[in-house]
Amino acid sequence: MSIRIGDIAPNFKAKTSIGDIDFYEFLGDSWGVIFSHPADYTPVCTTELGRTASLKAEFDKRDVKVIALSVDSVESHKSWINDINETQNTSVEFPIIADEDKKVADLYDMIHPNASETLTVRSLFIISPDKKIKLMLTYPASTGRNFTEVLRVIDSLQLTAKYSVATPADWKDGEDVVVMNSIKTEDIPAKFPKGHKVIKPYLRTTPQPNK
Ligand code: BEZ
Repeated sequence: MSIRIGDIAPNFKAKTSIGDIDFYEFLGDSWGVIFSHPADYTPVCTTELGRTASLKAEFDKRDVKVIALSVDSVESHKSWINDINETQNTSVEFPIIADEDKKVADLYDMIHPNASETLTVRSLFIISPDKKIKLMLTYPASTGRNFTEVLRVIDSLQLTAKYSVATPADWKDGEDVVVMNSIKTEDIPAKFPKGHKVIKPYLRTTPQPNK
């Protein structure tokens, strides 16, 4: 099944490294990140899961629940987690789905047969509290993802959800944002009292509203 931005994230029940879960119950009213990696006991995956574990406080601050997935077993995940914790100097607390029957991988289109018939690629989805897919990333097995970028996108999505703003190229938390074109220029001062610039009628910026 293919998934696109704006679709409802499919629910599922699965075995994980912390026990059986229902995905929607796991997410509750929080934002979510679900990401697949090709296999346990592989070097790039070890660094990715370690990095994600080290960013726990950043995900918590943004009210984001994180869950990983590969097609290996719960037993494999559990003993690999010891290696991740040891080598990456961290503590993996988020669950890793043991998707041995590839049920979740199929639901989220995480197996790309021309890359590998059997293993998941590096897919990542950000899900909003209303269970909609907000971002999809797909990386090849040989390239570890940038989790600072994942946090940056979450910051952008959360700003858009709360204010009528978008974020420009290479935007970082604290920098000016773009006022959505649904807001008339004459209505900007009331909505964004910190000020604004009209660079073009379709390009208006304002200081980040929540800073
Ligand atoms: C890795 O995680 O290191 C990896 C996994 C599959 C293929 C290539 C690299």
